[in-house]
Amino acid sequence: MQFLVRQPSGPDLVEAARVLRNGSLVAFPTETVYGLGADPENPEAVARIYTTKNRPANHPLIVHLADAEDVTYWADSIPDYAKSLIAEYWPGPLTLLLKRSANAKDFVTGGQPTVGVRVPNHPLALELLKHFKAAGGHGLAAPSANRYGAVSPTSAQDVADELAAYLKPSDLILDGGSALVGVESTIVDCTGSNPVILRPGAITSEMIERSSGIIVQDPTELSPKVSGSHKQHYSPKAKVVVSSSCAKDNGFIALAEIQTPDGAVRLAAPKDLGEYARELYAALRRADSLGLASVSILPPEGEGLAVAIRDRITRAAAK
Ligand code: TXA
Ligand code: MG
Repeated sequence: MQFLVRQPSGPDLVEAARVLRNGSLVAFPTETVYGLGADPENPEAVARIYTTKNRPANHPLIVHLADAEDVTYWADSIPDYAKSLIAEYWPGPLTLLLKRSANAKDFVTGGQPTVGVRVPNHPLALELLKHFKAAGGHGLAAPSANRYGAVSPTSAQDVADELAAYLKPSDLILDGGSALVGVESTIVDCTGSNPVILRPGAITSEMIERSSGIIVQDPTELSPKVSGSHKQHYSPKAKVVVSSSCAKDNGFIALAEIQTPDGAVRLAAPKDLGEYARELYAALRRADSLGLASVSILPPEGEGLAVAIRDRITRAAAK
């Protein structure tokens, strides 16, 4: 595969940063899912993210930073509670929406008055961001590296399967192994007096309240809509149903303690919530590679990471 760089070395990352500065795309691993990176200050490069993903142009992008201090380049005002979250959870699976600075142009923010930023917790991503910064860049715009509406990729091979047909010869996919979290970052709107979770993830509402000392509020009608919060998203080709029963030869996903229904194809049997989040998307992809017509999923109960897992399952199952 021409795009894939297996076990990228230091020089490979310097080259990837150079390629990005020249306006090409580089898919890279993060702790959550793989991202499709471009220079957020190059409108043509950012436009290619949208065409490659087939994503509507008004859907904003997250800017990934090498360092927490770089946030002031992109954001104008950062409330104290957001500073606490940054201090505690960056690098990590937490995206903050902040009032944008003049550097965050409409072509990155989708015309929103805010910008989404995070420092990812993955050694390859951080090294790439460091090299990109050394080359004069200010972070990387990167949505999940899948076609719009499809399941996010948790391995470099997933990215290649999903996007190779749409990449250009100068683009790269950096292989950093399987994603450790497996579901996308928590998105928190930090523009009001209280944090609002727009997309649940591994940084939970309890963790945000403990760290910020402020109550998390529910989204309102006026809260920004994130594309991952559109009712249907994260969908494989197979039909997804939320159910503990499963017809013969259809896929089945549930915690290991749940038995496989007779004749079902077990796609994942995670032992705990962490494993559930890590394996969910790969299991949905396997359903498609096996050509299964339908997948039954029994979501996990409870709080914490279970909230994010249920959110993604519900959206995968939405029509
Ligand atoms: O874990 C993640 O967040 C991954 C990795 C690659 O970092 N990225 C990711 O990006 O999931 P994406 O584009 O697939 O999902 C980000 C969501 C989108 O639904 C987008 O609309 C929303 O965040 N978003 C980003 N900036 C926003 C803003 N300023 N206002 C409202 N929504 C925003
Ligand atoms: Mg996405």
